[in-house]
Amino acid sequence: FADKTLAGKKVLITSGPTFEPIDPVRGITNISSGKMGYALARACRDAGAEVILVSGPTALAAPVDVTRIDVTTAQQMHDAVLAEAARHDVFIAVAAVADYRVANRSEHKLKKQGAAPTLLLTENPDILAAVAALPNGPFCVGFAAESQHLVDFAEAKRKKKGVPLLVANLVQTAMGSDANEVVLLDDAGQHPLPIMGKDEVAAAIVHHLARQLNAKQGQ
Ligand code: C5P
Repeated sequence: FADKTLAGKKVLITSGPTFEPIDPVRGITNISSGKMGYALARACRDAGAEVILVSGPTALAAPVDVTRIDVTTAQQMHDAVLAEAARHDVFIAVAAVADYRVANRSEHKLKKQGAAPTLLLTENPDILAAVAALPNGPFCVGFAAESQHLVDFAEAKRKKKGVPLLVANLVQTAMGSDANEVVLLDDAGQHPLPIMGKDEVAAAIVHHLARQLNAKQGQ
């Protein structure tokens, strides 16, 4: 890495799925592998940034020279991120955060007896929207995994959450895979990238992000 485009910057990243307990042995999760977020953590580190990676449960090894904070639930991820966000220059929300958690979680293992249990769901906080709303907060980058109408749904999400840069990817291509095909969305419009390995996609995102960040700071 010849150009340290993020030298001196502090970058906070979320990655992986969250796990929302139903009882002590069961829970609700999703198929996110964490690979894209971990690739971004390495790419930011290689670009000279100091990186904290807040990770949901994954099978991946912590990247060298990156501080990893392990969390399980969306609420824990929210609390870890909000404790750190204000002193970071960049926040990249890659995690596939559960929209809902179980409100009637059981302290003891549910037994198979009588009627099927009913799970009551309650909404989780939106971590990215919370960070994007901080006064003088970090430059925020969001991800959108969609299964259809990729660019339209993703651009609507960018506007709604108030983030300057959003990475749109198709669920079918992105989740679990080693490769990804993304479209970067910002105020200047759409920037489609070719299908590449996640390390190359991460390097391209860092390149784009560093340019936007430096342009913003030069204002
Ligand atoms: O709304 P949706 O979940 O599709 O938005 C995706 C983006 O928002 C991702 O960047 C994701 O990490 C972030 N997000 C979050 N907290 C949530 C839900 C999504 O940070 N509770």
